Amino acid sequence: MKTCVILGTRPEIIKMAPVVRELEKRKADHFMIHTGQHYSYEMDRVFFEELALPEPRYNLNVGSGSHGTQTGSILQGIEAVLIRERPDVVLVQGDTNTVLAGALAAAKLEIGVGHVEAGLRSFDRKMPEEVNRILADHVSDLLFAPTEVSKENLLKEGIGEERIFVTGNTVVDSLRQNLAISEERSKVLEGLHLEKGGYVLATMHRQENVDEPKRLGSMMTAVSRTAARMGLPAILPLHPRTRKNVTSFKIALPENMTVMDPVGYMDFIQLEAHARLVMTDSGGLQEEACILGVPCVTMRDSTERPETVDVGANVLAGVEEDGIVAAAKEMSSRPADWTCPLGDGLASVRIIDILEKYYK
Ligand code: UD1
Ligand code: UDP
Repeated sequence: MKTCVILGTRPEIIKMAPVVRELEKRKADHFMIHTGQHYSYEMDRVFFEELALPEPRYNLNVGSGSHGTQTGSILQGIEAVLIRERPDVVLVQGDTNTVLAGALAAAKLEIGVGHVEAGLRSFDRKMPEEVNRILADHVSDLLFAPTEVSKENLLKEGIGEERIFVTGNTVVDSLRQNLAISEERSKVLEGLHLEKGGYVLATMHRQENVDEPKRLGSMMTAVSRTAARMGLPAILPLHPRTRKNVTSFKIALPENMTVMDPVGYMDFIQLEAHARLVMTDSGGLQEEACILGVPCVTMRDSTERPETVDVGANVLAGVEEDGIVAAAKEMSSRPADWTCPLGDGLASVRIIDILEKYYK
């Protein structure tokens, strides 16, 4: 079995790391293609260093661009590599343009496609990620669904049950493998003069939220008002898309917010683990907050992670300022007594077991 692991953005690097680790452990024939969708040090390289990942054999360096340009460049670049390397199977993770292009390139070459984190649905086609997920799932041969909910979504779309495997989400594997290490290594709390449980952690980067001046402004103000009501500071590591928009829309940054560049994974999971409340529109943060026992307020109208809401770890707050503030008030008084529904930390082991069975 020759496996090609495709990745290109921050969350893909983090969530594929345990899969790569498992392939290495088994001395399986594999190589990585990095599309270069993310390329800034703090969105890319830092994770390879911290997670001690091997160098990708190929980096396509596609960079940023419109959806069509970016997806097209990735498709072309990956096709050329796959023709040269002829792996038996490619693995893609999640819902980015990298995933759509990777899955499509492989499917057209009749190379097997395994989709890690298959079957998530927000049922909102205005999200570019929703389009990517649906298309990637429908050209995949093996669908690694994190939960029964995601498996159900796939069955409802007519995907054969024999191709769907509920494995848990590799985000749990990654956290389990790195939390204790980060506790030891990271000095982020001391550096920012933060008390454990004494701050609100926020992130925002969804295209439909932060490319919209009114929405971005409402979300910022809602985080600031929530932190002020709780008498705590807010910490906001800013995604580059958001940083660019804050500048071009001339959005004033509230005084009780510490705004900074994105931080590495070791610092970030420490910030998350010890936050009093997480406020976000990120997919990965909804999951990580749930795993870490930290209440989460999702500043969106829909979520493809409803399991986190169902267990009481997360609330869908919408994107209007007052609605977010009200949801945060409710969430911050809830006890954190849920059981994480996202897996047991062995998703990557199951995924590679299944691959080895199908591609001998
Ligand atoms: C992408 C994914 C999104 C995922 C997010 C994770 C798609 C359609 N979107 O969104 O699903 O949640 O990654 O973070 O695939 N930029 C930099 N440096 C970088 C990368 C981006 O400065 O390393 C800036 C550029 O100005 C770029 C903008 O961020 O135009 C957006 O980057 P892009 O990769 O297109 O989308 P993301 O918003 O990062
Ligand atoms: N993350 C990080 N540093 C940051 C912000 C996030 O390491 O400053 C990590 C976080 O722990 C999670 C992932 O990045 O694993 C989430 O990525 P993002 O929110 O960009 O994408 P999404 O999950 O929404 O696709």
